[in-house]
Amino acid sequence: MLKILVTGSNGQLGNQLKEIAGLHNNCNFLFTDLPELDITSEEMVEKVLLEFQPDWIINCAAYTAVDKAETDQTAAQKLNAEAPALLAKLSAVHNARMIHISTDYVFDGKNYRPYTESDTKNPNGIYATTKALGEDFVMKANPKAVIIRTSWLYSVYGHNFMKTVLRLAAEKGSMRIVCDQIGTPTWTGDLAAGIMAVVEQNIGAGIYHFSNEGVCSWYDFAKAIVELQHIKSTVLPINTNEYPLPAPRPYYSVLDKSLFKATTGISIPHWRDSLKQCLNQLNEQSRA
Ligand SMILES: NC(=O)c1ccc[n+]([C@@H]2O[C@H](COP(=O)([O-])OP(=O)(O)OC[C@H]3O[C@@H](n4cnc5c(N)ncnc54)[C@H](OP(=O)(O)O)[C@@H]3O)[C@@H](O)[C@H]2O)c1
Repeated sequence: MLKILVTGSNGQLGNQLKEIAGLHNNCNFLFTDLPELDITSEEMVEKVLLEFQPDWIINCAAYTAVDKAETDQTAAQKLNAEAPALLAKLSAVHNARMIHISTDYVFDGKNYRPYTESDTKNPNGIYATTKALGEDFVMKANPKAVIIRTSWLYSVYGHNFMKTVLRLAAEKGSMRIVCDQIGTPTWTGDLAAGIMAVVEQNIGAGIYHFSNEGVCSWYDFAKAIVELQHIKSTVLPINTNEYPLPAPRPYYSVLDKSLFKATTGISIPHWRDSLKQCLNQLNEQSRA
């Protein structure tokens, strides 16, 4: 039986892992979040590691409020960089492997082809910089760790772009969405399955990229959400400079997933197919 400690489990990805836990009978999960396990507390992390003795730690906790981070650097740095370093250090001491989740924002978005794991990082903004630092700290403290960079996460849980679009569509006849930022949406259902493949296959250490297949703009993504839900709301394309936000965003952040696919042997669905699945789940929930 593999023992798996999940941190930050009340967030989008953590909740998704809870949802699929029952599919993995060979695993014993311990799901934690604030207040019972604050990953910035060495005392709390040490205690849970001693008591539970996990084989794996999956760190889903993070400071994810990208714009708020611009004026809250200390908290973002603590949660995105120092706490993962602590988890990595203690996971090495307790002989547990660790999966840490990172982001496409570690890149500056000036590429002209999908980013590979070995491309040079150049984060812009506080969230991006603290996440990039977190990667470095984790790898230094526990060279057996796995870092999975992902992008544009959405799910039926918590706050995300898909839910914002659905709310705007219900409230307004039209919405303006940026069309000059290109990337790939990732459904947490697929990411959680990918994470479990890493655990069950005991995949080697290092950085891996994971998103859904395909490429789109936020505008394309919003249009697909509205179309697939059959909502009569118009999505209008705008440029980034027409919707200024505190934190900079990468213009192009498509991740090359070749390494993940070759290593795990799993195939990843196209973002539009996964969006349909997530919307179906949301619709089933609202009917229940
Ligand atoms: N969301 C995206 O679009 C996106 C894109 C690329 C990469 N990622 C990365 O993917 C990972 C998962 O993202 P997500 O969207 O699932 O995040 P999320 O929904 O914001 O969940 C993060 C969870 O961590 C908890 N947390 C906060 N401080 C904590 C602490 N000190 N100790 C323990 N838990 C704490 C949060 O609790 P509170 O809610 O109470 O603060 C929340 O439940 C993160 O590493 C993120 O950087 C996300």
